[in-house]
Amino acid sequence: MRNYLVTGGAGFIGSNFIHYMFRKHEDIRIINVDSLTYAGNLGNLEAVKDRDDYTFIKADIRDKEAIEKIFSENDIDVVVHFAAESHVDRSIVNPEVFVETNVLGTAVLLNAAKAAWENEDGSFKEGKKFLHVSTDEVYGSLSDPSDYFYETTPYDPHSPYSASKASADLLVKAYIDTYHFPANMTNCSNNYGPYQFPEKLIPLMINNALSGKKLPVYGDGKNVRDWLYVDDHCKGIDMVIDKGVMGEKYNIGGHNERENIQIVKTIIKTLQEILPDDDPRKKGISEDLITYVEDRKGHDRRYAIAPDKISRELGWLPDTKFEDGIKLTIKWYLEHKDWMDNITSGDYQEYYKRMYKV
Ligand SMILES: NC(=O)c1ccc[n+]([C@@H]2O[C@H](COP(=O)([O-])OP(=O)(O)OC[C@H]3O[C@@H](n4cnc5c(N)ncnc54)[C@H](O)[C@@H]3O)[C@@H](O)[C@H]2O)c1
Repeated sequence: MRNYLVTGGAGFIGSNFIHYMFRKHEDIRIINVDSLTYAGNLGNLEAVKDRDDYTFIKADIRDKEAIEKIFSENDIDVVVHFAAESHVDRSIVNPEVFVETNVLGTAVLLNAAKAAWENEDGSFKEGKKFLHVSTDEVYGSLSDPSDYFYETTPYDPHSPYSASKASADLLVKAYIDTYHFPANMTNCSNNYGPYQFPEKLIPLMINNALSGKKLPVYGDGKNVRDWLYVDDHCKGIDMVIDKGVMGEKYNIGGHNERENIQIVKTIIKTLQEILPDDDPRKKGISEDLITYVEDRKGHDRRYAIAPDKISRELGWLPDTKFEDGIKLTIKWYLEHKDWMDNITSGDYQEYYKRMYKV
């Protein structure tokens, strides 16, 4: 029995990871620690909430006392650290909270794990690992179309979000280099799939198109992102936990580079294909909804991950092609209209109070 402490498990990737792990493993226990910011939604975990091997703890990763208590009361084997402020646009408006959660919160977790796992002689107990989940955005922007981000690519973050993630990555690296702290880091490209908060490109466009609203596209729409189906990211993290060489970092990405405008047009086309002719929403969905808006400040032009190392050394390959993943994702949002309505109305934030009566 392995005990996992998942931080940020009520968010998009964290909740997908919890579902993935319960599908793949029988002998695990998961403690999900999340402070339930606007991005955290316990509705994502409805299907697992009553399991004996799952526990939810509402706590802030910046809260040293609360985090140390979790480590002292539970024999944690693996920390999977997702909790973060994750939206670039919000970081441009309010950078401080990104530094507080992404940098200081990571420091609190690293310290608590180190204190719990360290032996008297400075070595660490067997079987412990801290998996820090990071992003390709720390590498900056690529201008040469034949270039890719490798694990050795120097960091060059441009937004407060990517700068805060880069800082957290360097802290993890410092713990590895200084203490031989048992950790791995993964830097993944843009994820898409179920349970993504509808401020991010794909669910935003799906939701707007279904509501007959304009589809706002930044600048000329030609910024390139490298898209990966969320389950393939979860698979990569699971493999790095099991097989990753201690102290190493692994890039994860599926070679799915797409311009933002291509993504928007694919969503429009797929919705037109999937929706039945008598669905009243279908008529309003066309490229006429696309509207170009002022570009994001400091908008990086192109991200592209080279996943060679994780493929070569750990045998990771993505299972879901973009063409299939985008269909699965759109179908999921169509079948979970209540989930989307709940989020867009803000009702999900009442869920915790209703469930836990606090
Ligand atoms: N979404 C992507 O495409 C992507 C790609 C690569 C890496 N990442 C990284 O993966 C992680 C998860 O991303 P996501 O898209 O699921 O984010 P998200 O915004 O959907 O979820 C973040 C979760 O963290 C929680 N949280 C925020 N601040 C907290 C705090 N102080 N204490 C405890 N919990 C807190 C939120 O309540 C939420 O549940 C992040 O670290 C992000 O940098 C994301």
